[in-house]
Amino acid sequence: MSAELHLFVLWEKARFAERRILDDLRSQAKIEVVDAREMEFRGDPAESFTAFYGPRKPLDAALKVKKCGGGRFLVVVVRDLEPSYARRLAREGKYYTANERMYDLKEKYRKWAGRRHRVHGTTDTGEFARDVFLLTGRTAAEWERGVPGGIALNIPAKASWRTVVDTVGADLGLSDCRVVLEGKYINDVFFEGRFKGRDAMVKCSSKCAWSVGNEFRLAKRMFAESPGVVPEPLAEWTSEDGRMAFTVAERVAGPSLTDLLRRGVSDGEADRFAADILNLASALKRTGILHRDLFADNLLVGADGHLRAIDWQLSIDRADYREDPWVVRNWKFRYVVFGVNRELGLGVWNDFHALGKVLALLPQTEAVVKASERLAAEERGMTFAAPPDRATWLKLRLYALSLRLQMLVKGRRHRKYAQLERRLRTITGYCRD
Ligand SMILES: Nc1ncnc2c1ncn2[C@@H]1O[C@H](COP(=O)(O)OP(=O)(O)O)[C@@H](O)[C@H]1O
Ligand SMILES: [Mg+2]
Repeated sequence: MSAELHLFVLWEKARFAERRILDDLRSQAKIEVVDAREMEFRGDPAESFTAFYGPRKPLDAALKVKKCGGGRFLVVVVRDLEPSYARRLAREGKYYTANERMYDLKEKYRKWAGRRHRVHGTTDTGEFARDVFLLTGRTAAEWERGVPGGIALNIPAKASWRTVVDTVGADLGLSDCRVVLEGKYINDVFFEGRFKGRDAMVKCSSKCAWSVGNEFRLAKRMFAESPGVVPEPLAEWTSEDGRMAFTVAERVAGPSLTDLLRRGVSDGEADRFAADILNLASALKRTGILHRDLFADNLLVGADGHLRAIDWQLSIDRADYREDPWVVRNWKFRYVVFGVNRELGLGVWNDFHALGKVLALLPQTEAVVKASERLAAEERGMTFAAPPDRATWLKLRLYALSLRLQMLVKGRRHRKYAQLERRLRTITGYCRD
């Protein structure tokens, strides 16, 4: 195996052992110290700890600050010249595959620094790529080429993305970016800015990076087919290691349909939206693209008063079904949490059905009723059921079995029987092979 980069973080309260740890690292035959730099939190340390550890495990950030310290810390980037991997025990009592040398060194330094959590270390290349980006705003690929210059002192994803949009983004044509939204579930941060003289929206993710590129590609196909139904996708960037990505789209003036419904929709607007929804539906049919997340939040009203569908991140091409690797790993997200068509069963999506639900929220003018009828007439043919992978299929089968047993034990009279039966129906519908 070729050499790989890793890092240690000695949080403030581990720094009394810093000299000893650095000396030890330098004396290791198979380790090269690439860079050691003092850094500090730019904003609130608790917030930064959440940004750093949060996505991986639930965190009591205040406690973390107390245990590790919120002052200056040391980041040491090292190169393991002969990496080897083995099964190691994780904190939660489970085994995982880790870089042995890094794992052992981390354990040793944690002993030296007293209390486990004062020292952080990476034990696989993916973890390094993510951490080094969050800490330095530079990608693993950039670090491979040498110690990058101009590293900002930061941790929060917001600050790291700031560096990326100010540098890579500027090369593409982005300017005047400001953060407008952050900490959403699968995206890190959203910027508003300008792209070659136009108002733009930038969406950044380090959790679901592939899906960001997916949004760009599929929205672009939609735009080519029917430019009125989707904001124009303008640019996309994915880091060389594929671990982070942003996409730039034309900014829609807004509001969202959700906001508008709160304010009240006039009959005239309802008629216009009914036509927009039919347009969108037919574009979806023609392209064979399935949005999968069509609801009032993801429909924005443009300056021209027409609806645009945003958020194509999890959309798919019927002919070439692909999911983001993160979504695949988090099977409950895919089959249970995510989706606006849960009533159709797990892993089953139908944009026409979803749009029908949106139409039902509007004033029922003649045009809206007609549009609903047209969608309903075609709905059956628009259903898409994801072919489950083997592991998920098995998990769902076991779940179905446990539901059957519960029904047997409880009996028909039990108040929960109907609920169990309903769940079983969705799952067995899904598990048909
Ligand atoms: N092209 C756009 N124009 C205007 N606002 C946008 C645009 N894209 C996203 N937004 C705003 O950002 C929010 C989140 O974007 P979205 O793509 O729906 O991501 P998420 O998957 O996190 O919901 C939207 O609800 C909307 O307020
Ligand atoms: Mg959304």
